[in-house]
Amino acid sequence: MDMILYKTPKENIKLDTYKLLSFDKIPSTQDYAHDLILHGEASNKTIIKALAQSAGRGRYRRTWVSHHGNLYTSFIYKIEERDPKLSYAVAVAIAETLISFGLTPQIKWPNDVLINGKKISGVLIEYAQSFVIVGIGINIKTCPTVKEYKTTKINNFVKDIDINDVLSVLIKEIDRWRNLDFAFVRERWMNLAAGLNKTIQYHGKPAELIGLNEDGALVLRNGSRYVLTYGDEISM
Ligand code: BTN
Repeated sequence: MDMILYKTPKENIKLDTYKLLSFDKIPSTQDYAHDLILHGEASNKTIIKALAQSAGRGRYRRTWVSHHGNLYTSFIYKIEERDPKLSYAVAVAIAETLISFGLTPQIKWPNDVLINGKKISGVLIEYAQSFVIVGIGINIKTCPTVKEYKTTKINNFVKDIDINDVLSVLIKEIDRWRNLDFAFVRERWMNLAAGLNKTIQYHGKPAELIGLNEDGALVLRNGSRYVLTYGDEISM
């Protein structure tokens, strides 16, 4: 396949064992990752990064508006089997990245990252062949207006943050949290969770958000009834 706009990684990105494919603008880093896998050109620990996307995708087939100035990236990992808990490790890694820049994020189940209740980052995890693709968008300089939720960006809190510095910290944090035992991830996720022990809306009904269990299910309580959910949406 054509590797359009390929650029040498900038020196200020600490890559460790990763390979970086960096673009000015492509339709979607996530779709680019899928294409690499489809063409047999993907390898473990490849990162695709773009400064803008013309067809960014979010969860639930939503559009991820991707103007210049934010981080749009997809990490490719070779895997033995699917890991439903990966999404929590990634959310914690993003939150820790933002904390390192002086922000105070919270995580909305399962992996949206919020500041003051407004979404600053989203994660799209997809599987293809023997790979997982972890797509991450972090609003740095711009945040779109979307009807489903409120949005914010790093620049509302801290100025002059370099995208490559955010990516460097993110790489380090993802490596750290992906490789930790789930007990640590779960504990940190719960520390950072928005709405813990509070009433949230689940399928249009109020429920108390209890936390994650050891298997990574979200535990909700409705009166004396406990509900476990694995892949769904809650609102606050
Ligand atoms: C969400 O809906 O919250 C997930 C958003 C994921 C957006 C990222 S940006 C980089 C990667 N490429 C895409 O097209 N989507 C993901």
